[in-house]
Amino acid sequence: MEVLDAIEERASVRRFSKKKPDWRQIMEAIHSAQYAPMAGGIFSLYTMLIDDPKLIEQIAKWSEQEFINQAKYVVVFISDETLVTTPFPDYGEIFSHQQAGAAIQNFLLHLEEVGLSTCWIGHFNEEKVRKVLKIDEDYTLEALFPIGYSDEKPKKRKAKSDLYHRIYFNQWENYRMKKIEKIEARRYGNKL
Ligand SMILES: Cc1cc2nc3c(=O)[nH]c(=O)nc-3n(C[C@H](O)[C@H](O)[C@H](O)COP(=O)(O)O)c2cc1C
Repeated sequence: MEVLDAIEERASVRRFSKKKPDWRQIMEAIHSAQYAPMAGGIFSLYTMLIDDPKLIEQIAKWSEQEFINQAKYVVVFISDETLVTTPFPDYGEIFSHQQAGAAIQNFLLHLEEVGLSTCWIGHFNEEKVRKVLKIDEDYTLEALFPIGYSDEKPKKRKAKSDLYHRIYFNQWENYRMKKIEKIEARRYGNKL
């Protein structure tokens, strides 16, 4: 699969078939996350692979999202912010979240490449999930990903915004790539 196809075809899936994914493929997707850009080249993420149905049940409960129970695996991305705030005291916290997002997108595109589906879970009771998974308070839970084979009808995909209403050139709210006078001048054959 071409990377551009993976970008356009990836979609959140909230209904999984009974087929169990090969955990090795999930490990490979986690490996892909490790190629993401990281401030100072410092990889600040930990990942947990959960396959215990009892734990998955607890995760579903504390996320208030029943469909998570259908997944045979849940992946959790966890940041160690201090690894980034130590060298970058002013920006470390935001860098840590930004690079988690970059790594997660690699992970999502890799899953897409191998035909696995997931849904980014950001709504969960952090305190409760932390307890269930025995994660120390020094670490930040970024997001959870129930993983399986899709049992949904593929959705028609489209970009989430109209690029031309969200891109400015050189200055905030300048929609035009070139100065209007220049374009008009060309139309009338003037040389500037
Ligand atoms: C930070 C973040 C948190 C999210 N949390 C949830 C969530 O808790 N539950 C859920 O069903 N989807 C969640 N989503 C998935 C979005 O709802 C989904 O990406 C959006 O509807 C667009 O659909 P798509 O992923 O198919 O493009 C989250 C996505 C992001 C980026």
